[in-house]
Amino acid sequence: MNDAKVTVPALLGRKQRGPKIAMLTAYDATMARLLDEGGADVLLVGDSLGMVVQGLPNTLPVTVEEICYHGRAVARATQRAHVVGDMPFMSYQSSIERALESAGQMLKTGGFEAVKLEGGQAFAPHVRALVASGIPVMGHVGLMPQSVHAMGGFRVQGKGEVDAERVLADARAIAEAGAYSIVLEGIPSDLGQRITEAVSIPTIGIGAGPGCDGQVLVCYDFLGMYPSLKPKFVKHFAELGTQIVAATHSYVREVQDGSFPSAAQSFGVQPKKQPAVETGAKPVVGSPAKSYGPASEDP
Ligand code: KIV
Repeated sequence: MNDAKVTVPALLGRKQRGPKIAMLTAYDATMARLLDEGGADVLLVGDSLGMVVQGLPNTLPVTVEEICYHGRAVARATQRAHVVGDMPFMSYQSSIERALESAGQMLKTGGFEAVKLEGGQAFAPHVRALVASGIPVMGHVGLMPQSVHAMGGFRVQGKGEVDAERVLADARAIAEAGAYSIVLEGIPSDLGQRITEAVSIPTIGIGAGPGCDGQVLVCYDFLGMYPSLKPKFVKHFAELGTQIVAATHSYVREVQDGSFPSAAQSFGVQPKKQPAVETGAKPVVGSPAKSYGPASEDP
């Protein structure tokens, strides 16, 4: 793997030169560090965090502040991957000025190198204005989760020639407005291929078939942390959900039967302290052995 920092020009070059772009979502520093070490090219702080982190039924309530909070954590832990932040619902739709303010805040305070926004032809002016201000934009067309109510649910888009033409026109408009890449979500594979051939920027698919220039998955999906909910486009590259439940059963059992902690996880017996001389001072509250400190008995 090439260790060089992944940049916007480097991603643009991948369209011609390859290899395909591997993008994943991340929402916290621990996961970001692992995915970055594993060679993910792009880490997206997606507004999917509303669903997978906050437990909401859709992405609509997510705010710019929440995206920035998670963005800072991800950016701190990421060395190589390109870090992108999703523009939340109604943080850009109402006007170009609003889009500039929200995206500016995301780059200034969220640690992001680029923003992603959902929308087709109607949002080309927004993309153009952001790009003119030096803000790299990743587009997102096809199934747009922020339009869940307009779509009548999370439905595959671009089925049939008329709708396919609409999605293709959306992708063209966003590419021509200056976006440096575009997510294609929930469209038939042949349309994914067609759009990839029609635009000069890399396409990154999720449920858009193998013909795209890259792929993206939600990190908890690819790690198998939702074994009960597996959309057709998701592949589990691990079964961490099952492993976490099994590990928790073991932990509960060992805590209950007293086998955890054993001597290996316990500090040595402290010599008995002399009784404190009465000074009238208040006792110090809290344990000196911090849970996240080094596993050492040194002060
Ligand atoms: O919010 C998100 O995670 C996304 C990706 C799935 C593309 O938009």
